[in-house]
Amino acid sequence: TRILWDVQAAEKGGYEHFMLKEIMEQPGAVKATIAPRIKEGRVVFEELGLTASEIGEIRKIIITACGSAYYAGCAGKYAIEKLCRIPVEVVLASELRYSDPLIDKQTLVIVISQSGETADTIAALKECKAKGARTLAVVNVVGSTVAKLADYTVYTWAGPEIAVATTKGYTTQVTVLYLLAVYFAGQLGRMEGEERKLLIALQALPRQIQQAFDLNSSIPVLAKKYHASKSLFFIGRNTDYAIALEGALKMKEISYLHAEAYAAGELKHGTIALIEEHQPVIALCGNPAIMEKTLSNIVEVKSRGAEVLALTFRNNQKIVSVADDLLFIPKIDALFSAVVEIVPLQLLAYYVAKENGCDIDKPKNLAKSVTVE
Ligand code: G6P
Repeated sequence: TRILWDVQAAEKGGYEHFMLKEIMEQPGAVKATIAPRIKEGRVVFEELGLTASEIGEIRKIIITACGSAYYAGCAGKYAIEKLCRIPVEVVLASELRYSDPLIDKQTLVIVISQSGETADTIAALKECKAKGARTLAVVNVVGSTVAKLADYTVYTWAGPEIAVATTKGYTTQVTVLYLLAVYFAGQLGRMEGEERKLLIALQALPRQIQQAFDLNSSIPVLAKKYHASKSLFFIGRNTDYAIALEGALKMKEISYLHAEAYAAGELKHGTIALIEEHQPVIALCGNPAIMEKTLSNIVEVKSRGAEVLALTFRNNQKIVSVADDLLFIPKIDALFSAVVEIVPLQLLAYYVAKENGCDIDKPKNLAKSVTVE
C-alpha cells in the first residue's frame, strides 16, 4: 500500500486532492483549449466541416447535456445569442430524449460531455440525429461514444480529469462555446471589426484565472465561517445566474450542504420567505450591466438578516460596502466571465468540503460518468 500511496501522491502533483490539482490546472487547460483555435488573429475550427453558408442556414441551436456540462451550456448561451443572434435553447439531455423535440435540418444541436459516455447525453444525441439535426459534440475524452456519434467533434483538450466533481472539464467546455460563438459570428459576417477585441479577451482568460487564485487566498478562512451552514443560496442574473447554478452544484456535490441557485429577480416570488437571520447568500456580481439590480436584491436579503458573501471586482465599492464577506475576480469581459468567475466558487466548495471532512475526490452516491439511465 505504501507504494500505491506514493504513486497516487505523485499523480496528485503534491496536492491533497485531484480536485484541487485540477482547479489549479485550469489556466493551462483553458490555454490548451484556446491555442489551436486562434490563428493569424482569427478563430479557426479545422475540425468543423461546416461551410459559411451552412452556418447561415442555422435557425436554432439546441445545447443538450447533463450536470455541469448542462450548466456550461447555460453559460455559453449568452455569448452565442449575443454575437450570432441565433436563438439558443439549453435542454437537459434526460428531458430532451423523451420530449419529442422540435428539430429539423436547420437546427444545430451542440452536445456537451466531458466523458462522452453519459447515457442520457448519448440518447439525446441519437434522438436529435434521427430527427435530422446537424450535431456537434464538445467532448474531452478522445474517441468516446459521443465523439464518435456526432457529425462534428470539438475536443476541449482539458487533459484527464479524475475528481468526480468537474472543474477544468467545465471551464474548457465553456471556453469552446465562447470560441464557437466568435467563430460562427465571424462566418455570419456579424463581427464588424469586433473580432480582435474579443480574441484579446479570450486570450486573457488563462491569466485571469490565475489572478482569481491570487485574489482569493482568504477562502480557507471563509470556509471555516460557512461550513456549518444548513443551506446556502446562490443568486445572480443572466451570466451570473448561469455561474451560480454551477457554483451551487459544486457545493452540493462535494460538501453535501443544501445549496440552491436562484435568478436574483425571482427571489421575491417565493424564496425570500426562506431568508432568515444568518442565512448565507452568495451573491454573484460579475456583470456590470445588471449589477445594480442584484445589488437591490442584496439589500433585500440583508434587511432580513442574511449573511452576504458577494463575488465581484475588487474596486467595486458599491458591492464591497454592503457585503459581509467577499470573493474577488479580476476585471473581465462579462461576455466571457464564467470561465473566471466560477473559480472562487470551486475553491469555496472545495474548502467547505475539506472543513467538513468529506471525501472530496469521490463524493458519496456520485459517479464520474453516469453510463446507465
Ligand atoms: C456526472 C458527473 C458530473 C458531470 C455529469 C455529466 O454527474 O459527476 O461532474 O457534469 O456527470 O458528465 P459528462 O461526462 O457527460 O460531462
